[in-house]
Amino acid sequence: MSATVRPAAEALLPVYRRFPVCIVAGEGCELIADDGTRYLDFVAGISVNLLGYNHPVLRRALERAAETGVLHTSNLYRTIPGEELAAELVERSFASHVFFCNSGAEANEGAFKFARRAAVGPEQREIVALKGSFHGRTFAALAATDRPPYREPFLPLVPGIRIVDPGHQAELERAITRRRTAAVIVEPVQGEGGVNVMPDALLQDLREMCSEAGAALIFDEIQCGLGRTGTLFAYQQTGVVPDLVTLAKGLGGGLPMGAVLVNETIAASVQPGDHATTFGGGPFVASLALAQLGVLSEPGFLAAVRQKGEWLGTRLAVLAARHDSVVAVRGRGLMWGIELEDAAQPVVERALERGLLVISAGPTVIRLLPPLTITREELARGVELLESCL
Ligand SMILES: Cc1ncc(COP(=O)(O)O)c(C=O)c1O
Repeated sequence: MSATVRPAAEALLPVYRRFPVCIVAGEGCELIADDGTRYLDFVAGISVNLLGYNHPVLRRALERAAETGVLHTSNLYRTIPGEELAAELVERSFASHVFFCNSGAEANEGAFKFARRAAVGPEQREIVALKGSFHGRTFAALAATDRPPYREPFLPLVPGIRIVDPGHQAELERAITRRRTAAVIVEPVQGEGGVNVMPDALLQDLREMCSEAGAALIFDEIQCGLGRTGTLFAYQQTGVVPDLVTLAKGLGGGLPMGAVLVNETIAASVQPGDHATTFGGGPFVASLALAQLGVLSEPGFLAAVRQKGEWLGTRLAVLAARHDSVVAVRGRGLMWGIELEDAAQPVVERALERGLLVISAGPTVIRLLPPLTITREELARGVELLESCL
């Protein structure tokens, strides 16, 4: 028993700077705090809660999955929901196979391993990541993450991972070579780095360079995938087909789940025993993910995301024109960044006081990631609230 009497929240390791709000319930696109305050949610658990809160399809899936009495079996035995989910993801993507895990960082670690496994040259070990990237907090994912304050206290990170400036063609060409490069990893839309939409031409260049070097092209769609940009996968709007895609965040319908989608060539190089994770693709979480994927795949669902996204983009451009403090707005689908002249955090805090949840992406960008189920009216209400905070 603890010898000290202190608030329960103090028992948490203080790695998060939390807002003084305690969430106890959610409904649609609103979260409800313990004092009854309702917040319009433009964060969605950082791109996790794709269908908002208390969605009837997810509720039913949860109840049905619980009725089986089996939350976990290990990967020693077959279970149906994970197999069906993998088959659905394969059906809807470039991939031939799927590996399930539990988080984004774990998905990227898996992708790095699979890419190195498939590399043929004896020195083909290096992973190339891009300036502005965020790929997670574990050692290899962090080595591919361009955030010095996140990295420096924990050096040395995993060797063999380098970060290059994608705006520097010569640097890219020097970095991606047949002799050394196993993989290039890129977020089609950088999230934490400030909502930077990677130009299609850059992604096409990376595709060509990887193909020429015999290196794998990994798209980290952990934040921008699963309908966020208006297609099920972000790569589907870029004209580029990657060799691996990593997913997490929204995949499990709010439960922890990650995945690595791989093509036939990568899959052919992987042997039993190469990689594993205790909880990966368990029946409970996979049931929820499968039900959610069904909703994302309903006719018109993603078209509605694209339409709402276009409307939001237009509305944000108007906001930018009206406020000198807004330097730029950029995004795709329902993933938008508003770059300010000054710090974003005071605006985030003012918005919270006025009942709107938004999040920053770096020091000067406000990031909007509403649930994909948000209505036009809710979007309008959110933008109005946000504008009142600028
Ligand atoms: C693009 C991207 N990759 C990887 C991660 C890491 O995911 P996780 O926090 O689930 O490890 C994140 C999380 O924000 C992310 O946005």
